[in-house]
Amino acid sequence: MRVRPASVYRYLLLSICCFVGVYMIYSIIGYDDGTHVPIHRPQRHLYLTVSQDRIGSRFGNLAPKRILYWTTVFGATVPATMLSDCPGLTDRCVIDTNRHQLSSADAVVFHAADLSRFPLPVTRKDNQIFVFNSMETPDNSGRFAVPDNFFNWTSTHLFSSDAIHKYGSFLIPTQIAESRGFKVQSYYVQPKRLVKSKSGIFGLISNCHTTSKRELALQELGK
Ligand SMILES: *[C@@H]1O[C@H](CO)[C@@H](O)[C@H](O)[C@H]1NC(C)=O
Repeated sequence: MRVRPASVYRYLLLSICCFVGVYMIYSIIGYDDGTHVPIHRPQRHLYLTVSQDRIGSRFGNLAPKRILYWTTVFGATVPATMLSDCPGLTDRCVIDTNRHQLSSADAVVFHAADLSRFPLPVTRKDNQIFVFNSMETPDNSGRFAVPDNFFNWTSTHLFSSDAIHKYGSFLIPTQIAESRGFKVQSYYVQPKRLVKSKSGIFGLISNCHTTSKRELALQELGK
């Protein structure tokens, strides 16, 4: 059979068109502009684009609460991602450390031991909650003066606090944790790994220069 050059060109052109067509459809479907927001990233967007006056008080509760950390925590700036492992809270709360944003804060948190590092705010709105925060005992919380009735809420390790903030975890049954969206990890340890092979004490200590001088007791125990 004789192949006519014209038909060869026609089929070649057709194949190229098909290929380009399929490639275009593929690129459109597979295109990722990198703007997909992971579920647990705080979504500031809603707050920044919706003004409270426009949505009115009826929807006021929909806007995330802004929590402004007025102070550092033992000198460290609190990360904006602080609540990223709290399912359901990342979209409800925005953590802020910009003191110029005081007027838009719903709550202003003061870490007791850092109170003297920053001048106290000179203005406050009636609906703002000023929070006294410390996970430590009074010994480690500094002794700084603030005006009378300065704080509205407390946030400490004490169970009588308005918002309990303690070291260690809150224990809830696995099923409830999962139903609330927490990722459950297993820390199961084979019991036989816990059998003591050498005598001794194992400790993890984050503060080696304490006012109570507990490190001296540990040194003695280590002899
Ligand atoms: C917080 O305390 C201040 C000072 O005592 C008070 O004026 C303000 O109304 C309180 N705010 C709230 C929301 O309770």
